[in-house]
Amino acid sequence: MSVKLFHNCRIYTPVDNGQPSKGKTQSNVIQFLDGAILVENGVIIGIGEKKNLLAQIGPIQIDQEIDCQSRCMIPGFVDPHTHMCFARKRESEFEMRIEGTPYLDILRQGGGILSSVKAVEAATENELYENCLKHALTALSFGTTTLEIKSGYGLDTKNELKMLQAIERTAKATPQDVVPTFLGAHAIPEQYKNNPDAFIDHIIDEMLPAMHQQNIAQHCDIFCEEGVFTIEQGRRLLQAAQNIGMKVKIHADEVHDLGGAALAAELCAISADHLLAASDENIAKMADAGVVANLLPATAYSLRKPYARARKMIDSNLSVALATDCNPGSSYTESMPFIFGLAVLNMNMSPAEALTASTLNSAYAVGKAKNIGSLEPGKFADFLLLDGESPSILAYHAGVNPVVDVYKFGEKVA
Ligand code: NIG
Ligand code: FE
Repeated sequence: MSVKLFHNCRIYTPVDNGQPSKGKTQSNVIQFLDGAILVENGVIIGIGEKKNLLAQIGPIQIDQEIDCQSRCMIPGFVDPHTHMCFARKRESEFEMRIEGTPYLDILRQGGGILSSVKAVEAATENELYENCLKHALTALSFGTTTLEIKSGYGLDTKNELKMLQAIERTAKATPQDVVPTFLGAHAIPEQYKNNPDAFIDHIIDEMLPAMHQQNIAQHCDIFCEEGVFTIEQGRRLLQAAQNIGMKVKIHADEVHDLGGAALAAELCAISADHLLAASDENIAKMADAGVVANLLPATAYSLRKPYARARKMIDSNLSVALATDCNPGSSYTESMPFIFGLAVLNMNMSPAEALTASTLNSAYAVGKAKNIGSLEPGKFADFLLLDGESPSILAYHAGVNPVVDVYKFGEKVA
């Protein structure tokens, strides 16, 4: 048994009411400005203003006291959408994009996701693991204590499993919690170019059962987009995944408004992600179904597109989460502080809304909110100390890392 008292910190945390925070409640953040937090064996057993907490808790043996030097404490970031398992960067494509070639044109020419598929095919599982771990540890240094990592650069059973095995090894090697997602339907492989329906059949009949048998992925995802997969193909695949007990996610309405948001509502997906082009009508459908809108502002930034309409979504009573989308194409960053800054300054989210979006709502978007996402008794002691007085520092001090210390299960890990 080991009890730790962290004190002399300014604590800011969202409040978990048993469901993702939505609408006005998304800005419900509690503060303890002379705060303290008691941790027993990695789990929070008390939190509050120091003087109240110690009076409430009564006599207890404290094994270690940690003075947080008046820093701001927030829950560890949960990054609920990444593609950080890849073999090679795509710098030359970035240059093509900034000179004006659209992202989907590069894919149409056999580059983009398909160039990452070639690189993964040529890489060993060990190379993928080493690369993936490096990105995960970079994310850790920016305060990400839990993250989702997708497959999706394999596109056949062997290479998708190779990716998921590399992700599993990453999960064992990093102090972070890693949530693996199967994204076999990320692009149409060359040999199925003229018959994407047959590729969906192949995923349903062969790949999905193989992933399921190995219990190697928690969610199933698909990229619904013009020139990639249709809504009907999405419905077919995701229903098949739900039939074998997997939760589903959708890359929805990233570039064109195909109706991915409506499909997410119809299937009660755990999240719909991107949503740059989602319509008012489909935003309302998602709100009615309680689907989390997982917004990825670094993708809009990097693709130089209008940001997802976070204000409209929050005002429509939708739960908004935030993620990096870390990948070698559309958004190459591991930094949740960068995402936080974009959300506040370019999507008009308040710092309180962005805090809830990058901790509690993102924990819901990966099915982990029972244990993480907010600082309260019973949840894991995953938290960050920031070099500032409040979470606003994450947007205010741009382009640097305001995360000073990272704690996972009450232990300092970065
Ligand atoms: O979420 N849009 C599809 N997938 C990724 C990009 C992957 C890539 O370009 O490698 C995304 O933006
Ligand atoms: Fe993505």
